[in-house]
Amino acid sequence: MDYKHLLSSLLSPFAQLPESEILSFIESPPDPAMGHFAFPCFRLAKTLKKAPPVIALEIAAQTMDKPLPEWLGKVVATGPYVNFFLDTAAFARETLEAIRQAGDRYGASDEGAGRKVLVEYSSPNIAKHFNPGHFANTMIGKALDNIFRYLGYSVTSINHLGDFGTQFGKLITAYQLWGSREEIERTEIDGLLKIYVRFHEEAEKNPSLNDTARAWVVRMQDGDEEALELWRWFVDISMRSFNRLYDRLGVRFDLIRGESYYTDKMTAVVETIRQKGLLVESDGAQIVDLEDYGMPPCLILRSDGGTLYPTRDIAAAIDRYETFKFDKSIYVTATEQILHFAQWIKVVELMGFPWAKDITHVTYGMYLFESGRMSTRKGDVLNVEDLLNEAVAKTRAIIEEKNPNLADKEAVAEQVGVGALIFNRLYNGRIKDTMFNLQQMLSFEGETGPYVQYTHARTCSVLGKAKPSDIPDAAPQYSLISDPESFDVIRLLHDYPSVIKDAADKYEPFLISRHLVALAQAFNAFYQKNVILTDDAQVKHARLTLTKAVQTVLRGGLALLGISAPCAM
Ligand code: ARG
Repeated sequence: MDYKHLLSSLLSPFAQLPESEILSFIESPPDPAMGHFAFPCFRLAKTLKKAPPVIALEIAAQTMDKPLPEWLGKVVATGPYVNFFLDTAAFARETLEAIRQAGDRYGASDEGAGRKVLVEYSSPNIAKHFNPGHFANTMIGKALDNIFRYLGYSVTSINHLGDFGTQFGKLITAYQLWGSREEIERTEIDGLLKIYVRFHEEAEKNPSLNDTARAWVVRMQDGDEEALELWRWFVDISMRSFNRLYDRLGVRFDLIRGESYYTDKMTAVVETIRQKGLLVESDGAQIVDLEDYGMPPCLILRSDGGTLYPTRDIAAAIDRYETFKFDKSIYVTATEQILHFAQWIKVVELMGFPWAKDITHVTYGMYLFESGRMSTRKGDVLNVEDLLNEAVAKTRAIIEEKNPNLADKEAVAEQVGVGALIFNRLYNGRIKDTMFNLQQMLSFEGETGPYVQYTHARTCSVLGKAKPSDIPDAAPQYSLISDPESFDVIRLLHDYPSVIKDAADKYEPFLISRHLVALAQAFNAFYQKNVILTDDAQVKHARLTLTKAVQTVLRGGLALLGISAPCAM
């Protein structure tokens, strides 16, 4: 139930204002002791020609005069405010029955039924490390992917690998001169990077290496088997290491389609841009002028005829529209690419494709490490696999200290360590930079993944101690959980579906993470205050029902964020 709407229609006749306007005035007081909703009467003083406290008294008296709707407990005037108290038992019943019925699907909906959404995320580069930025990208994308599916959209996830470019000519040259197949098989991306770096060093002394590299690029473009075979091997080697991460992160793509896939579609795209009269020459290169839109020109063709990054994005977008007829196409990338995206999306729009408006660029800030700005230059890039391993090792040590007899220690350490890193990245708005502090994100007490997981495990432990007869199938007496601590929990459970929707509308998974922390805190306050497995069977039943609902939402919310919820830790 949407109480703000219900209240607006209740208030509308008194206030002589349209419901929509009243809706925007209704507040949620921070302390439920002051009421669950409040309506400030200041705005009515002019039309009603009375002082706000007088208006508040009149509204409260007139509302209480009539029989209240079932969901409303009482209405009280406090100064210029009318405060509304929900009927806590009715509120508990509505919320907890909805969760009992929906189970794992609580908060899911079919608002997206029949609508196609593409989510492109992760998109690391072949023969380069999967860096912390790619980790952020992957987990933000994965969360959006999950959220949109949960809301009933038909989602296709795409990994747009960086598998195209002149660097592959250099890599082939380097491999043939100094590469060892066996060593690269063993060291994977490190091995590829090593010969790549060597290429640049040697080319300083011997510039003809650049010609060799260029010749290999031409051979690749011409479909030369020897060149393509090596290129495919570089892709395989890199994917092997990316897939290890994806496995640990629980990420799977519907489509892994690199930039190179669009190579043979490029000529037609450039031709269309030309036909639209958009292409102009500039210093031998072909560009689309975007001055009218306050942007630098979008580069389409290099002077040597080679295509550029924007051209490949335009080709990919057209191909995706033709393939999927998407209603929405989401791209997750770092904020550094904002201009690039604005430019090529504008070109697509100028080409006359109406679906250009359905492309959404979702960006995110960087990781900040203690040493300062994260660099993507060689040498000081932190390896994501190492970061995950370190988080897991530290978690293992915490478990060893706190709960040495835990079953499945290794698996739980993995779920908690990896979960901590994911939760940490998804705890702030996307655009904000994330401070990387392992110690803090692994704490079982702060606003962290482990804290939410720990609270979930606590619900498992309570429910595990209950007998099946303690929580029978019938509905409990909801009036037995109307204390303030229970109410706080129920309110957060009630709001959860709208939080998911909001997260989708704003492309902000952190709204869910924050809500889960608030729910975990509220549940722990409830747990401190109340004995759940008490002697009174009725009270026990009601409190267990609440506990079960919290378990459902914590587990479901973590799952949307791409995080596991172990039952003991
Ligand atoms: N591979 C690029 C990188 O690692 C990101 C690709 C983003 N996606 C796109 N369609 N341009 O920076």
